[in-house]
Amino acid sequence: MPIDLDERSIRAALTGRFGAPLRFFDEVGSTNTIAMRWAEEGAPEGALVATDHQTAGRGRRGRAWFSEPGTALQFSLVLRPGTSVDATGLLTAAVGIACADGIEAETGARASIKWPNDVVMMDKKVAGILVESKVVDQTLELAIVGVGINVSWPSQVPDDIAARATSLDRVIDAPAPVDRTRLLSAILSALERVYSLVKHPGGRADLVRRIEARSANIGKDVVVRFPDGTTVQGTAFGITPAGGLRLATGDMVHEIHAGEIERVRETGRD
Ligand code: BTN
Repeated sequence: MPIDLDERSIRAALTGRFGAPLRFFDEVGSTNTIAMRWAEEGAPEGALVATDHQTAGRGRRGRAWFSEPGTALQFSLVLRPGTSVDATGLLTAAVGIACADGIEAETGARASIKWPNDVVMMDKKVAGILVESKVVDQTLELAIVGVGINVSWPSQVPDDIAARATSLDRVIDAPAPVDRTRLLSAILSALERVYSLVKHPGGRADLVRRIEARSANIGKDVVVRFPDGTTVQGTAFGITPAGGLRLATGDMVHEIHAGEIERVRETGRD
């Protein structure tokens, strides 16, 4: 397998504000944990932690994030938004847009976002986003943006995982493997652009339109699971100014800010 992600290649490829300073590890527990500790010690906005392999990768809601060495793009970026805490949901969605834009730029294949934190291709999850934050007096002082993208899976993957997730090499039709350094560079460039919309309240209406346009689930019948385990079914019809999901159930309209779309209901079932 070619070495497509190491410290030297990343330093050579990244020319923007995001990605410097850089800490690269051949193997690490969790890049989010390292980035949070580094940020607490004073790492500036744009500082990046990247790795070839995590031994204790973390997902949302206490879940684990697994990948074999050399098969995923995994990184954490230090951001210091200084916005109202209300922008946290928009920030997560903005990262989703940047991942989808970067994937499209590098592969030519369509990627969408699934509220609130997944990137999907051909109806399967290809990437997950974990934003961990520090809030002081209702201000979003610090956000560690963690991204994990399945790039090239081994041929054998457990059926239950393959049923709901996939990797880039399984969904694109390309003559060469995806280069993780180029993908990282494309995502960080896209993120610099959308992040400016998060930072400036005047840009948020535009951002909400972009999230809706990129969403796999707007206009679909979905099941949303709340953090307490309960669910609600309805039609996803938009994104709120804070990045929440607008859901219509019968004659009621809900604005959901915590939870996740568990699945899309197939017509005539459920
Ligand atoms: C999810 O789908 O629940 C989010 C997964 C986020 C995984 C990434 S990989 C890089 C960063 N470090 C972690 O420990 N988690 C995130």
